[in-house]
Amino acid sequence: MRFTVLSLLICFFSGPVMAQSQPSKDHGVELKHAEQLIATFQQRLKKELMAGLSNGATEAIEVCRSRAPLIASELSNDGVIVGRASLRQRNHTTQSPEWVQSQLEYYQQAEHHNALPRLVEIEGNKYGYVKPIYIKTPCLRCHGENITPTIEEKLAQYYPNDQAVNYKKGQFRGVFWVESNH
Ligand code: HEC
Repeated sequence: MRFTVLSLLICFFSGPVMAQSQPSKDHGVELKHAEQLIATFQQRLKKELMAGLSNGATEAIEVCRSRAPLIASELSNDGVIVGRASLRQRNHTTQSPEWVQSQLEYYQQAEHHNALPRLVEIEGNKYGYVKPIYIKTPCLRCHGENITPTIEEKLAQYYPNDQAVNYKKGQFRGVFWVESNH
């Protein structure tokens, strides 16, 4: 089985990011910043994954495992935190702020796929921003119903309580989230 580089390219280049509700004037700059952070996160993940894939599927798993959390922490600074979250986590050590949970539930319940990102008022000057992630064909290799024994073995080694399998194409997988404390 080989990964199709083209479909991975497509899958990590998402469309334009739009806010579901019109952001207030004060949040305009913050919103743009959040969108940029998520775009950078996606692009860097894609780049790392491509590099890993050139050495095979199990190497790509290594890359996801080691680089994804690192990229998130590198992008987080100065009162702005970035991350990924899911209702069915693979990596259970990944932490997300409490407000993200209700957003995950919102997208899970949304009937339509390809729902838009949302700006979330938290409290005081804090605001959150979430962008939903949906399962596309290349994701099924590591999150789908028919995972090859080699990949399965590698996943079991790192993630004994993996809940992020048996997904179907188009299903809601989780969110990219940004929390700003400015
Ligand atoms: C090469 C295998 C592989 C492919 C392909 C892959 N993933 Fe993953 N995914 C992983 C691994 C490994 C992790 C755990 C990373 C970690 O340890 O933080 C993960 C974690 C995630 C997470 C973070 C939440 C969690 O459960 O820990 C999301 C969201 C996610 N993947 C979505 C996707 C989507 C969407 C695609 C397709 C665009 C995709 N993945 C393709 C292996 C893969």
